[in-house]
Amino acid sequence: MLNSLKLLISVWLLLLLHCVSGDEVENKPVTEDCLECLCETMSGCNATEICVNGACGIFRITEGYWAEAGQLTLPNETPLSAHAFTNCVNQPHCAANTIQHYMHKHGQDCNGDEHIDCLDFGALHKLGNLQCRGELPYIFAKVFNRCLKAKQRNASESRNQTLNRVKNKST
Ligand SMILES: *[C@@H]1O[C@H](CO)[C@@H](O)[C@H](O)[C@H]1NC(C)=O
Ligand SMILES: *[C@@H]1O[C@H](CO)[C@@H](O)[C@H](O)[C@H]1NC(C)=O
Ligand SMILES: *[C@@H]1O[C@H](CO)[C@@H](O)[C@H](O)[C@H]1NC(C)=O
Repeated sequence: MLNSLKLLISVWLLLLLHCVSGDEVENKPVTEDCLECLCETMSGCNATEICVNGACGIFRITEGYWAEAGQLTLPNETPLSAHAFTNCVNQPHCAANTIQHYMHKHGQDCNGDEHIDCLDFGALHKLGNLQCRGELPYIFAKVFNRCLKAKQRNASESRNQTLNRVKNKST
């Protein structure tokens, strides 16, 4: 009897801990560069707290998307709080974690290039997990791809600079 009570309590504690740390995402499939391109494409990273056709915050996240991603909330709220959804997705950190959860859950090879990367996350974000193999709106694809290319250029530039520094040191 006492033992089963102990078990019950420890299960309950585990669950509680899990809820408390629900905001922290261990698996983060989406890189910082990818998140920046998502916000650039969705809103120009405009941090004004607004909803456009029900999609809110810098990443223009809808309530359905937020629910799919596990209803993350700000630390002092529960999913049942009146403005839990808008408060979370209007706050960049909570919004970014929502994306990480969504992509961890729904990550898939939308464009059929045999790996799962930011191109797929863009399609998943814009079209949703059931539609992500469909065609992206032209403007979205154009802005998103341009942003990703710029990020790649930057990454390769800083790689080259590092390489050059190493070379210069060794000669
Ligand atoms: C951000 O969005 C708001 C609301 O749409 C707009 O009034 C504001 O001018 C925008 N800011 C920038 C820097 O574009
Ligand atoms: C590329 O790097 C420069 C300097 O670090 C930065 O100012 C610029 O915003 C970066 N561009 C992108 C697309 O991240
Ligand atoms: C980086 O270095 C490679 C090889 O030296 C070169 O082909 C490439 O153009 C460089 N990239 C940038 C962005 O400077």
